[in-house]
Amino acid sequence: MSDTKELTLPQSNAAPGADLTRRDFLNQVTIGALGIAGLGSVAVTYQFFSPNVLFEPATQFRAGTPDLYPIHSVTYLQDQQVYIVRMPEGFYAVSAVCTHLGCITQWKEEAQMIACPCHGSKFKPDGIKLEGPAPRPLPHFGISLTADGELLVDKLQSVKNTQALKT
Ligand code: FES
Repeated sequence: MSDTKELTLPQSNAAPGADLTRRDFLNQVTIGALGIAGLGSVAVTYQFFSPNVLFEPATQFRAGTPDLYPIHSVTYLQDQQVYIVRMPEGFYAVSAVCTHLGCITQWKEEAQMIACPCHGSKFKPDGIKLEGPAPRPLPHFGISLTADGELLVDKLQSVKNTQALKT
């Protein structure tokens, strides 16, 4: 005599989850849609109340001590887009942004001039226009010495192109 167990198979041919009624299905879809809409509302509300802060670069910057710049030198500070020009009469801080359409100019050591690569404007080291479509000379910024002896450039302060910092 063999000791066998009978296996009983489920009699239903229904797929798993088929006992979900149409009403239950619609309820779950509605709850899901409301949940998504609620999360969207929370995100929009959070963004609305978050401060919209625009981080702009500082308008004042230190350019090191005067002895870093030999007399008759033009030094381009790429981060600030400013030339530190040292002439016998003193220091100038000259904008490197062309007054024509705002391209960044380049110092040409061999030609001893500042040139704009876009439309060919040329400027003397102190920013005076030599030729080209630029309508004005390159602007000069305020330059001073800090209490500890460093050059301080203020890009918000516009000064005459004859105003040099004597050291
Ligand atoms: S932008 Fe410099 S010459 Fe046009």
